Amino acid sequence: MTIYSRILGTGSYLPEKVVSNQDLERMVDTSDAWIRDRTGIAERRIAADDEFTLDLAEKAARNALDAAGVDPQELDLIVVATTTPDRVFPSTACLLQSRLGAKGCAAFDVQAVCTGFVYALGVADQFVRSGTAKKALVLGAETFSRIIDWTDRNTCVLFGDGSGAVVLGASEEPGVMSTHLHADGDYADYLHVPTGVSTARAVLEEGRAYVEMNGPGVFRMAVSTLGRIADETLEHNHIDKSELDWLVPHQANIRIIQATAKKLDLPMDRVIVTVDKHGNTSAASIPLALDTAVRDGRIKRGDLFMIEGFGGGFTWGSALIRY
Ligand code: COA
Repeated sequence: MTIYSRILGTGSYLPEKVVSNQDLERMVDTSDAWIRDRTGIAERRIAADDEFTLDLAEKAARNALDAAGVDPQELDLIVVATTTPDRVFPSTACLLQSRLGAKGCAAFDVQAVCTGFVYALGVADQFVRSGTAKKALVLGAETFSRIIDWTDRNTCVLFGDGSGAVVLGASEEPGVMSTHLHADGDYADYLHVPTGVSTARAVLEEGRAYVEMNGPGVFRMAVSTLGRIADETLEHNHIDKSELDWLVPHQANIRIIQATAKKLDLPMDRVIVTVDKHGNTSAASIPLALDTAVRDGRIKRGDLFMIEGFGGGFTWGSALIRY
């Protein structure tokens, strides 16, 4: 008998503080029209000074556990995708496990930047398929605002904070039908924070502690790799693009989303778009969009959808899921 993982429930959380494009006009040389036109973003949420990635993760996790009707003590696995952990160690997943009272289960973080949630889901899906875990909590949670230079108009207009989560359960019915994960580290310098734990002293002297990005280079690579991974996902499952009910893409930029939708011949009303409301929340963006569409009734039980993401690394990945 084949075991699959199925999404039992979804959850998400956005911090209360809204920063609009008009607010950014007062901070850097930019305009609401430029930001909307080039990215589709109207506003983003920023965590309060005393609010951290773990706090965001906990809220999304509790929402997802409630929706799934799963008690934290039933969890066998917690995987948190984050680029902005609260501590060097222990992992955000271990801190979350303690907050939730899910004692004893495996808990670790994965780091694949904006593709983080797809990577985390891919890992958790393998645990469930192999029989190692029966119930898994998978999250993307970010306080990306903390690694942004708020005087750099090239990057500060793009990002925001948030969290999203799913609870997976073992099932004889799919579920997650396939996951596809890729990386090409040759492109590391296209989108990165040059400072790390081991290099901090050397790099901080140059004052380079924030996101640096080759915008047009990232844009080109994102469009081409996401197009290819959509094909790979459909071919692997022997399905035609017309069978897809929804696309739930990484919410980085409306123009990248539109390019993938076009590749799949999907009209935009079959694409879940939330980037206007929260900008690029990195690993949180896909589960945030998914939770939005599940809660507003667009994505229903039995629907077939693809998630896809692209991010620093470069990393990119996708999954085909029957809800
Ligand atoms: N407001 C106003 N003007 C801005 C600006 C801003 N916030 N940021 C850049 N500009 C200017 C540039 O300086 C440039 O001016 P110049 O022509 O005088 O040199 C001009 O706008 C065009 O810049 P360019 O970089 O060519 O614009 P673009 O059409 O490529 O759009 C991005 C810029 C960043 C929106 C686009 O490249 C992009 O979306 N890239 C992908 C980013 C992304 O999604 N990253 C995360 C991936 S997970």
